[in-house]
Amino acid sequence: RTVAVVLAGGTGTRLGLGIPKQLLKIAGKPIIEHTLAVFEAAPEIDEIIVLMATGHVADAQQIVDKAGLRKVSKVIEGGDTRNATTRIALDAVGEGDVNILFHDAVRPLVSARIVRECVNALWTYSAVDVAIPSADTIIQVDEDECIVDIPVRSTLRRGQTPQAFRSGTIREAYRLAEGDPNFAATDDCGVVLRYLPGTPIKVIDGSDENIKVTHPVDVHLADKLFQLAAAQAPRLSDHRSYTEELAGRTVVIFGG
Ligand code: CTP
Repeated sequence: RTVAVVLAGGTGTRLGLGIPKQLLKIAGKPIIEHTLAVFEAAPEIDEIIVLMATGHVADAQQIVDKAGLRKVSKVIEGGDTRNATTRIALDAVGEGDVNILFHDAVRPLVSARIVRECVNALWTYSAVDVAIPSADTIIQVDEDECIVDIPVRSTLRRGQTPQAFRSGTIREAYRLAEGDPNFAATDDCGVVLRYLPGTPIKVIDGSDENIKVTHPVDVHLADKLFQLAAAQAPRLSDHRSYTEELAGRTVVIFGG
């Protein structure tokens, strides 16, 4: 059994709308509805659990009912932090060995290909992350905003979601984290890395389109990406198809 957990417990302070950003409409639908539709359509996913921000569970339930999303088994309240939301989700999944995919509700452009590759990787690995190379150089700074290190870019990736786990692994990592008073992480693979060192965490290719709607500019980007997706079939689903789309638009500027 494979369960998709859609994390929607945040309120989107950086977007600053006054409502949780996952309820914002893009391309005619709330962001979370786009996200849920990807998992509903994925043959690898058996069940979906939604963790919603306090005070908005009814809004999420209404979206689920209206869209007729049959795989959604529970819409419940999330926690104060992303990790607290993950813990609540682990309880909601119930006992037994299952595959669990945690996905940010605010990444509505996740592709069927990414979901499939995450689930397939769980045959071999007990923890899986999704990431893309960084086009920008990443620098590490100290508290005075001065550079302390510039790691080699080719070894760096930008983490996305889903993050996928066999339930035994993620439960054990969180159990160990509970005993640590200094526990703090924003990322579930980070919990496995820290508390179950030595566990291989496989990284599969994400996509440039799988953006996390975080700042106002991301709303415009996501809107444009949905327009592009609607305008072409099959749907833009990964980096390759987007590159092909751009190749078709190449113009000669400095002609002879
Ligand atoms: N999330 C969650 N529970 C929390 C905090 C965040 O489930 N207590 C979810 C968000 O709803 C989002 C994902 O984790 O889908 C990624 O988090 P982020 O983009 O940081 O969302 P917010 O916390 O809503 O945004 P901000 O940090 O700007 O307040």
